[in-house]
Amino acid sequence: MVEKKYRENPFTPGYGGKVPPMLAGREEEKRSLARDVEGIARGGHSGGDLALIGPRGMGKTTLLNWLSLHLEKEIDSGNLSRKVRVEGPVSNFPENEDPLDLFRKKSMASRIDSLEMDAKLVKASIDVSDDARYSEILKQVVKETKMEPLVVLIDEAHELTTGQLKRILNLTQDCRNKGGSVVAVLAGTPHLRDKLRQSRASFVERGVEVEVGPISRDSSREAIEEPLRDIGNIRVESSALEKVLEEAQCYPYFVQVWGQTLWEQANREDRNELQMADIDRCREAVESNKARLYEQRFERWEDNELAALTEVARRLLDGSDLGRHGIVKVCALTLEGAGQDPAAAADLHKKLVNEGVIFKKVGQENYGPGIPSFLNYIVEQAMSRKRQDREVSGRSR
Ligand SMILES: Nc1ncnc2c1ncn2[C@@H]1O[C@H](COP(=O)(O)OP(=O)(O)O)[C@@H](O)[C@H]1O
Ligand SMILES: [Mg+2]
Repeated sequence: MVEKKYRENPFTPGYGGKVPPMLAGREEEKRSLARDVEGIARGGHSGGDLALIGPRGMGKTTLLNWLSLHLEKEIDSGNLSRKVRVEGPVSNFPENEDPLDLFRKKSMASRIDSLEMDAKLVKASIDVSDDARYSEILKQVVKETKMEPLVVLIDEAHELTTGQLKRILNLTQDCRNKGGSVVAVLAGTPHLRDKLRQSRASFVERGVEVEVGPISRDSSREAIEEPLRDIGNIRVESSALEKVLEEAQCYPYFVQVWGQTLWEQANREDRNELQMADIDRCREAVESNKARLYEQRFERWEDNELAALTEVARRLLDGSDLGRHGIVKVCALTLEGAGQDPAAAADLHKKLVNEGVIFKKVGQENYGPGIPSFLNYIVEQAMSRKRQDREVSGRSR
């Protein structure tokens, strides 16, 4: 029986944000999240809201879930007051819902039953001007969170409208200014960064942005090696492990896919040591997983964007040092060459960032790939289109 239990795969490939057995290379991010959120939860007013920003699959939801578990632990061990309330991540926030209602509901949740609350909400939403409604809700949230600090986690926050974001950030900040303890932690793709800027709420000056990018090669090694060894008593020969790391591309999602596949390989053959030949045997499963992901990402690009996408991929693979200016220029030249309006280049740059095709840390000058092998895929797709064009025109002659 014990044997069976340990045979359960501990890796967590997917986008559910289940915290993996080894959450590698996020010490700084965890420290910053914990420090700022706990500060406010303890009644401090100096901090602001937080935003976790990064391309898909880098681990934002995972960090939100980690934060929620961490705070619960701190509450259980008495390091944080029992009164602190941590609401698990909200995602799929309805487009036409006013986020004030979310904060109002959450801040009152432990006080009154939901029927009474709904009645109050309905009452509040008719007949009152928006300003009056805002003040009323603010007053309530201040009162409630003075007694019981509130942490609200919002996932997929890039889906919120700028109006909704503005309301959230204004409410939390006004509330803190009036002595309430509320903090919002938002997570979203780089698109969220643009929306925060557009919402012109105070976030840009006062909020804290935590960037969630690729993890280092050493962290990827830890994330794969430790669970295999410590939970499964499985070892991977060192050159084989290096090969895996090369293919995992420092992309957290691929790291989990590899971990899971290696685990399955060891169990299938009932072995404790994996070699290069095992990596070769695992590759097919991993590659089909990657191919699915690349296909989905690639489908998000329109035909008229492909030339610029391909050119940017080529340049980055060639090692060109390109910042925003360079990327926009490459796009503009490619568009022009194809007889299209080069003015669309700035939007293409945005899309490249938001889709995670290119990535750079704030403050860094040049972009690198989000996932290096996706750039290869983009270039291969261009070659395949060319080949097909030749095929078709060859046949029609
Ligand atoms: N620090 C990490 N180390 C190892 N694996 C991670 C780490 N962070 C996230 N993962 C894994 O990466 C994948 C994507 O994580 P997720 O939080 O869903 O990304 P996002 O919300 O940014 O799209 C999941 O399989 C998760 O288990
Ligand atoms: Mg997510």
